[in-house]
Amino acid sequence: MSERVYIFDTTLRDGEQVPGCQLNTIEKIEVARQLEKLGVDVIEAGFPVSSPGDFNSVVEISKAVSNPTICALTRAVEKDIEVAAEALKFAKNGRIHTGIGTSPYHIKGKFNTTPEKIIERAVHAVKFARNLVGEVEFYAEDAGRSDNEYLARVVEAVIAAGATVINIPDTTGYCLPSEYGEKIAYLMNNVSNIDKAILSTHCHNDLGMATANALSGVSNGARQVEVTINGIGERAGNTSLEEVVMAMRCHKLLDFDTNIDAKQIIKTSKLVSTLMRMPVQANKAIVGRNAFSHSSGIHQDGVLKDRETYEIIDPADVGVKESSIVLTARSGRAALKHRLEIIGYKIEGKELDTVYEQFLDLADSKKDVTDEDLDALVSQGHTKQERSIKLEKLQVVSGLSLIPTATVTMSFDGDVFTETATGNGPVDAVFTAIKALMKRKVHLEEYLVQAVTRGSDDLGKVHVQIEHKGNTYYGYAANTDVITASAEAFIDAVSKVHN
Ligand code: KIV
Ligand code: ZN
Repeated sequence: MSERVYIFDTTLRDGEQVPGCQLNTIEKIEVARQLEKLGVDVIEAGFPVSSPGDFNSVVEISKAVSNPTICALTRAVEKDIEVAAEALKFAKNGRIHTGIGTSPYHIKGKFNTTPEKIIERAVHAVKFARNLVGEVEFYAEDAGRSDNEYLARVVEAVIAAGATVINIPDTTGYCLPSEYGEKIAYLMNNVSNIDKAILSTHCHNDLGMATANALSGVSNGARQVEVTINGIGERAGNTSLEEVVMAMRCHKLLDFDTNIDAKQIIKTSKLVSTLMRMPVQANKAIVGRNAFSHSSGIHQDGVLKDRETYEIIDPADVGVKESSIVLTARSGRAALKHRLEIIGYKIEGKELDTVYEQFLDLADSKKDVTDEDLDALVSQGHTKQERSIKLEKLQVVSGLSLIPTATVTMSFDGDVFTETATGNGPVDAVFTAIKALMKRKVHLEEYLVQAVTRGSDDLGKVHVQIEHKGNTYYGYAANTDVITASAEAFIDAVSKVHN
C-alpha cells in the first residue's frame, strides 16, 4: 500500500497574493467548498492580521467547511497569533502557521539580528500559538537558502516547543531538486526529535522546478506538500496541486499517494481560474486546454487507435471528458472521419477520400478547421440528412425591471409549434424555449458572439457549444440581429444531437 502524503492547499493564501487576483469572502468560500470536494487535507484560508477581509474569510471558511483542517498564517508576532486564533474559533480543526526567516538574507537583511535571537523568537511564537490552538505548523522562511546545520537546530527547537508540522519553504524558488531533497534528508537524519513532527515542502517556481523539488522532498522524507491550484502564486507561482498529485499517481514507483479525488481537478482549476480572472496557459500540465489535445496526424491516428500511445494520463481521470483532436493540415483521414462522425456525418471509402482532399485544401489556407467549416464542406454533398427544422418567428421582451421573456415558433417537417419561456436574460429565455420545443436536455458549454466587422449595424456571428450525453455539438449562425443569430446557432447545434 502507498504511503500517505498530506495535501496542504494554499491557493487562498499564497495563491491569492498574485496582484489583481484577490477574491471576496463569498468567492473564497466557493473555492474552499470545492477544495473540500477535491479532498485536500488542509486549507490555508488567509493571513488574518493582514486585513479585516482576510480575517473574515478565515472565520467564514471555518464555518463553511468541515473536513479539511483550516489553517491561518502569522508572523512570529504575538498580535498576529492572537488574531489568527480568534479567526479560527469556528474551525473544527484549526492550525496556526507561524514562522520566521532563517537564511542569512533574512536574519541580517530583514531582521538585523543574530541566528540565536531568531531561534528564541521562533520558539516563543510556537509556544504562544500552542496555548491558543490545537495544532501549530512552523515555517522557516527562505529555508531553501538557509544553512542546513542551523536549520536543523531551528527545527529541533520548534518541535520541542510544540510544533507538529515543519514547513521548509524554498521561498525564492532557488533550489535544485537534488539540493532540496538533500536538505529534507539532512533534517530527517540530524534532528533528534523529528519523529514528533512531519516535514512539509513549500516550493516556489522561479526556476520552473517547484514540482520537481516537492517530489524530491517527498522522496526524502517529507509527508506534506504545500500547493496551489494551477500553480498560482506570487512571481512564477507555487508547486501546482494537480502536477504533484498526478505525478504520484502516474509513477507507482514513488509509492506515495494522496486523498485527492482527481476527477475534481479540472472543475477546481476552472473555478479558480474564472474567479481569479487568471487564465491557465494552454500548455499547462494536466489542466491546460492543450494538455489532452492532439494536432499532428501521426499522434491523432495513434490516439484514436489506442489512447495510451500518446497519453500518460486518461483525461477522464482528471475530469476531462475526452482527448481532443484538433483538425489541421497535418491531420490524417482517421481524425477527419472521427470528427465528421461526431458532428453527424458517416463517411467512408471513396467519399471520404474526396472530402479529405477538400479538407486539405481548406486546412492549407486556415490555422485549424472548425466543425462549421466541415459542415459547410460536407453539406454541399448528399451525406447529411436534409434539415426539416426551421425557426419561423421569434419575439423577445427584455429590459430594465422586466422579466426577459421569449416566444419562439418553430416548424418541424412543416408542423408548427410555439413555446414561451423566461430566463435570466433574453438569450437564456430563447434557449429555454428552443430546448422545450426540440425536447432535448442539452447543456450549454460555450456561447460566443462576434461582430463580423465593427459597426453596430453589422452582422453578428454566434457560435455555441452544447453537451448531450457526454458528446459535444457545435452550432453557428450569423444575422444582423444577434438574438436571432443566437436562436439559429442554438437550433443548429441541438439539431445535430442524436438520441
Ligand atoms: O514562501 C514562503 O516562504 C511562504 C511562507 C510564508 C510559508 O509562503
Ligand atoms: Zn510561499
